[in-house]
Amino acid sequence: MVFHMPLHSSPAIKKTNLALWRAWRTFKFSPLSSLAGRGSEDTSEEMSAVSPEKPPHTPVMLKEVLHYLDIQAGQVVLDMTFGGGGHTKAILSAAPGVTVLALDRDPTAISLAQRLAEQHHGRVKPLLGRFSELEALLSNMSIKPGSIDAVLLDAGCSSMQMDQAERGFALSKDGPLDMRMDGERYPDMPRAADVVNTLDQQALASILAAYGEERHARKIASAIVEARRVNPITRTQQLASVVAGSFPAAVVHARRDRLHRPAHVATKTFQALRIFVNDELNELHAGLRAARTLLKPAGRLCVITFHSLEDRLVKRFLQGEDLSNLEQDHFSPRKHASRKDKKLAGDERGGENAVWVPLRRKVIIPEKEDVRENPRGRSAKLRAAALRH
Ligand SMILES: C[S@@+](CC[C@H](N)C(=O)[O-])C[C@H]1O[C@@H](n2cnc3c(N)ncnc32)[C@H](O)[C@@H]1O
Repeated sequence: MVFHMPLHSSPAIKKTNLALWRAWRTFKFSPLSSLAGRGSEDTSEEMSAVSPEKPPHTPVMLKEVLHYLDIQAGQVVLDMTFGGGGHTKAILSAAPGVTVLALDRDPTAISLAQRLAEQHHGRVKPLLGRFSELEALLSNMSIKPGSIDAVLLDAGCSSMQMDQAERGFALSKDGPLDMRMDGERYPDMPRAADVVNTLDQQALASILAAYGEERHARKIASAIVEARRVNPITRTQQLASVVAGSFPAAVVHARRDRLHRPAHVATKTFQALRIFVNDELNELHAGLRAARTLLKPAGRLCVITFHSLEDRLVKRFLQGEDLSNLEQDHFSPRKHASRKDKKLAGDERGGENAVWVPLRRKVIIPEKEDVRENPRGRSAKLRAAALRH
């Protein structure tokens, strides 16, 4: 099994991943492995839930993305996160003769891309794979570095993934505790149930603290370990209740998100597990590096993120910071957030040797009206840049 250490490793997280790797080897031969819920290999059931009238996912900040990508006739555009295809469809209509390379790690999304490809004869090229597999996929198609005009990366989960209880992403829907974006492509990769049932308490707490920015990580990890002594935690709502049970009732109903709306106390736990299971921060970094390699000079990049860990990574990457040694740096997301980019050299801040030219210096957020129409996009942040000539 391939299970590399996440880039954003505090020492505790590094230990976590080693522990997980060890636990995983034991786990594979233990009766627990049959308890975790499985995704469906045949995507037809999931596909049937996607109605032709209702878009499977409402694209976030569509207007802004089209503005900053500035698509011209005949261009080749890479949509690294096809999802329900909303952005791809708009890109195809933005100018005549545009070709879209449509990547997604989720086979369900790629089935939709294949349908769209049939409608657009040769103008949509579906690619099943992860950001970290993209350069290999494109080189098999003889697509060379420096040959793409514009790239979009719309990180995170699609509504299709969130809305399917069977995928195990949503705490509001009961389903197997799965959360793998790849579905069954890598059957040996751990599901969220494997993580919560096999890691030791300290490792769990490290994951919740680092990837969920959860202040009560230790308390929640302890509740998980207590609960799984009685019964393995295999369902999303079972985990949500275990987490809620670790807080006094008054707190359970008092938590608010950044927009001051009621938030379930398990929201950050779910976010942390999803990031860990899908190795999302390493993947995001791999995606940004691939974009830098594949874009033409002056090619445009738009990146949409949904939480601060991702946005900080994108911001620092576009400022030209070398993020390849973060493991050795004992990277801790919170510590780095307060560093105020002290380490950046002058040219990395946008001088004449900088790799990226920001198309807008400040992060772009959705307009109020868009949030009203598509509340799921409320925490989105868009950063747009062009590769320097
Ligand atoms: C927010 S959705 C994209 C929605 C899309 N822009 C639309 O308009 O429908 C994110 C998609 O990116 C995919 N994804 C996330 N991480 C990925 C990765 N590392 N490699 C490839 N696809 C990834 C997910 O499977 C999901 O389908």
